[in-house]
Amino acid sequence: MNFSVRLMNNNDISEVAIIERQAFPTMWPPIPFKRELGNKFAEYFVIVCKLDEHLVIPEPQPNTSFLQKSVNKIRGLFFSDKFDAKDSFIVGYLGIWYTLDEAHITSIATREEFRGMGIGEMLLIAAFQRAFQRKSNSVTLEVRVSNEIAQNLYSKYEMIEVGKRKRYYSDNQEDALIMTADDINTDDFYHQIQIKIKKYLDKHQNITLLDDK
Ligand SMILES: CC(C)(COP(=O)(O)OP(=O)(O)OC[C@H]1O[C@@H](n2cnc3c(N)ncnc32)[C@H](O)[C@@H]1OP(=O)(O)O)[C@@H](O)C(=O)NCCC(=O)NCCS
Repeated sequence: MNFSVRLMNNNDISEVAIIERQAFPTMWPPIPFKRELGNKFAEYFVIVCKLDEHLVIPEPQPNTSFLQKSVNKIRGLFFSDKFDAKDSFIVGYLGIWYTLDEAHITSIATREEFRGMGIGEMLLIAAFQRAFQRKSNSVTLEVRVSNEIAQNLYSKYEMIEVGKRKRYYSDNQEDALIMTADDINTDDFYHQIQIKIKKYLDKHQNITLLDDK
């Protein structure tokens, strides 16, 4: 399998909506992707997973070892009713709104079966690459106080807690942390992020990032 990042388009909406529902089951209303794709102050990216031409996914077996369960899960993805068998599909998405000098990440999610494989990090890298290209001064977002996994990801890219929004989430009145990387257009910050990206690419050989120009 290999993974690459590209801009989202209208044909991606149904797949992305599935990931959105998995990731944010209590969020209402859902993101109006069709409208958002026409919003000139927003950009959405997707990570596309492409299967190797000769990949053979073993038949499911009745035994229940961890490895076998994982194989069955992946097999189920490609050959179940909910997923047409095809050679590429979307495993994550990210949305950004641009204001004057800020890149505001509005949504980021990885397909459940593909979490912990570097997809979320790949999306965040894309956000930073675009923020650098657009000469934004900061990258910011809101995250649930309970969402330590996402917070770990953001801290890895120098985003720090700069404030709180009380009862920001309407489903359970949970507070949001505001996490921000400021002054990102300094040489120092740019180089710090490039080092992280290099480390990431060394670890994940099957990944193609956005063009860095
Ligand atoms: C948050 C989310 C996007 C992370 O995506 P992912 O593809 O699983 O993350 P990655 O595999 O790229 O991991 C990147 C980093 O995230 C953190 N992380 C990921 N999984 C973690 C876990 N189970 N426990 C703790 N930290 C974790 C780590 O810092 C990790 O870096 P490392 O590999 O050096 O440890 C994903 O969990 C998700 O879609 N969650 C539901 C939606 C959501 O909460 N979105 C965030 C809204 S603000």
